[in-house]
Amino acid sequence: MIKAAIFDLDGVIIDTAHYHYIAWKRLASEFNINLTIEHNELLKGVSRIRSLEIILELGNIHLSEEDKEKYANKKNAWFVEYIESIRPEEIFSGVKELIQNMRDQGIKVALASSSKNAPRVIELLKISELFDTMVDGTMITHSKPHPEIFLLAASRLVVSPAECVVFEDAEAGVEAALAAGMKCVGVGSPGQLGKANKVIAKTGDFRISELSAM
Ligand code: BG6
Ligand code: MG
Repeated sequence: MIKAAIFDLDGVIIDTAHYHYIAWKRLASEFNINLTIEHNELLKGVSRIRSLEIILELGNIHLSEEDKEKYANKKNAWFVEYIESIRPEEIFSGVKELIQNMRDQGIKVALASSSKNAPRVIELLKISELFDTMVDGTMITHSKPHPEIFLLAASRLVVSPAECVVFEDAEAGVEAALAAGMKCVGVGSPGQLGKANKVIAKTGDFRISELSAM
């Protein structure tokens, strides 16, 4: 029986995945790499430094750890600049209502984002009160597809992994949820997220009545 829902942030609650993409694309162009939307799927859900490493691998470029840090910071500075314009209305339609309905029915709700910028995005959206707990990239050692972040969220909600359903737009996130022993709803295309227990086009499309069949 599902007792808790765990939501990813970027691409599930708001389209910040797009801001990550344009910031990485801008950085990649400095290395003469044309980062495509297809490449970008590999970057979703994984940590900042791992994202940079994937881009460098595409261009067969080798950098020292110090330089990697420098370029990851450069990308982050652009991302931070882009997200400052976020307004509360940018939350995906139906998401607030879905989470509120879940909580009204006694389902606990957590946010679990690999992003170290998650607290700022949540603050700008003014939705911190929607969650019983929030875990982000500053609290974990291993990023998705490792299950650590979801296991941490479940333990903070005091539920077992089998009682959780995760909402994820990233392939690495779906893998992390399944590795944690949780159910997973993929948000996006079935081609990309086929391993999830169910795939929906938009987070707001999910109906609470579907939980009993998970
Ligand atoms: C995830 C995104 O939520 O956070 C990734 O899907 C991103 O694309 C990762 O790389 C880390 O984010 P940040 O904000 O800590 O660089
Ligand atoms: Mg995401």
